[in-house]
Amino acid sequence: KFPEKVTVKEVGPRDGLQNEQAVIATGDKITWINQLSLTGLKYIEITSFVNPKWIPALADAVEVAKGIERVPGITYTALVPNLRGLERALEANIDEAAVFMSASETHNLKNINKSIEDTYPVLQEVVQETINAGKSVRGYVSTVFGCPYEGPVSVEAVVRVADRLFEMGIGELSLGDTIGVANPRQVTEVLKVLLKRFPAEKLAMHFHDTRGTAMANVLASLDMGITVFDASLGGLGGCPYAPGASGNLATDDLLYMLEGMGIHTGIDRDKLIAAALFIQEKVGRQLPSHSLQTLGSC
Ligand code: HMG
Ligand code: MG
Repeated sequence: KFPEKVTVKEVGPRDGLQNEQAVIATGDKITWINQLSLTGLKYIEITSFVNPKWIPALADAVEVAKGIERVPGITYTALVPNLRGLERALEANIDEAAVFMSASETHNLKNINKSIEDTYPVLQEVVQETINAGKSVRGYVSTVFGCPYEGPVSVEAVVRVADRLFEMGIGELSLGDTIGVANPRQVTEVLKVLLKRFPAEKLAMHFHDTRGTAMANVLASLDMGITVFDASLGGLGGCPYAPGASGNLATDDLLYMLEGMGIHTGIDRDKLIAAALFIQEKVGRQLPSHSLQTLGSC
């Protein structure tokens, strides 16, 4: 009853690099994304058109997006928080804008400097203008399974945000476990509620592996019919406005489990590992994925 194939969306160049201490040269980011483009991935979140004062690591978003070699068939996407961000994203000819907000008030305020209510009109404009420009739009809701400031988050709060984002016209909603607190039972329970309102094809899961539960949460999501997963190569990443958030679920580990289960991803493992070793060297620290740590040992 598992799906035959799933889509893995690589968010390392954005979610990964936004939180690394090392400053990665623009040319190295471009080289890395070009390597990722040859792995079979069909969707790469390459950067973020947020206020560069908030996320200095991705201040070179326009240069990165303009500098990469676009492979036909791949969607190159980026975070876009407002119209100023969209202006830069369109200048860089991004394929898709990803808008984002949180289910919890305090995280939303800390992350994008607005209340949840004040965020809607800003995102509404971004979604509309992106669609007018002939591009697709993805939505993210953060803190779905818990907030670093408020603790538990109700599923009703998630539904409220999800409803509003879909009404605006997003094509897919990614459910973020921003600080990696979810467990499989909670994933099942939240998905039960959401799947009564939205089809599984419109939902993606975005797990961080802070407490080692990300892979188990993937399994619970697969069981509920979800077939799109965000992941970050080597387990790079976190969220700078969510204390304690660590890396995303590692793409290479996810690939190992899925392919082992006979679930196809279309990704070439050797090329993916080569790309992981490249960025590991640039960030200058051993990345946390199991597959990198056991490389060559078994
Ligand atoms: P703000 O400072 O409140 O914005 O930021 P503002 O509208 O008051 O503007 C202030 C100044 O910033 C102005 O310049 C704007 O032009 C400029 P000034 O007039 O003072 O010279 N500005 C910009 N410049 C370039 N690009 C822009 C932009 N916007 C304003 N886009 C804002 C509001 C939302 C922009 C800010 O809070 C921000 O950038 N936040 C982003 C934080 C962030 O990137 N967090 C991490 C990503 S979310 C995440 O990781 C979670 C996720 O992975 C899912 C999960 O795990 O749950 C997606
Ligand atoms: Mg994230």
